[in-house]
Amino acid sequence: MKRISLVHEAHKAVQTVLQAGDYAVDATVGNGHDTLFLARHVGPGGIVFGFDIQQNAIDQTRSRLEQGKVETPFELFRVSHAVMTNTIPAQFHGRIKAVMFNLGYLPGGDKLLITRTDTTIAALNQALRVLAPDGLLTILAYPGHSGGDQEADEVDKWCADLDGSRYDKLCINSQENQKSMPRLYLVNPA
Ligand SMILES: C[S@@+](CC[C@H](N)C(=O)[O-])C[C@H]1O[C@@H](n2cnc3c(N)ncnc32)[C@H](O)[C@@H]1O
Repeated sequence: MKRISLVHEAHKAVQTVLQAGDYAVDATVGNGHDTLFLARHVGPGGIVFGFDIQQNAIDQTRSRLEQGKVETPFELFRVSHAVMTNTIPAQFHGRIKAVMFNLGYLPGGDKLLITRTDTTIAALNQALRVLAPDGLLTILAYPGHSGGDQEADEVDKWCADLDGSRYDKLCINSQENQKSMPRLYLVNPA
């Protein structure tokens, strides 16, 4: 059965809203692939804010951005995305066009340092507060690893509980009828 690349789907969706000069957030920078993608799209007139709790993820992302030769201003924070609204300056709240979450552990890193349900849900609520009215929130969740099933279920519930008159939401499964496979959630203000 065909398996969809959800990273690709997330990028495709973000490209539909992101323009040069926009502000964007990578809530889990990891190895910096999504951060570089966002930086390339917003360009030198925009800004990308990035979060990760691991110093090696911050370092890796910084060097990927430098090697990618993007001129986009960026700020990388070594703090939990659960303090997003306190960390991103207030003047950007309500003006962020894309917030991307790619949950789980750092590929090639310590698999015990994973995103955790409580901080993920706190961060998702804050992401909605910084998001622009025409912005998009993407959440890539990975059931099937320790802690991942519960986190993915809670993200699913969080999404289902969002007021449908205020938010459009879509869930894309990487493989149909496979509950243990990765899923992508797309949320945008209606
Ligand atoms: C799947 S990786 C992200 C991949 C990344 N987006 C990329 O393009 O390479 C998940 C990342 O989330 C980070 N993380 C875990 N808990 C976090 C938290 N509370 N706040 C921010 N980042 C966190 C991990 O350290 C890890 O680097």
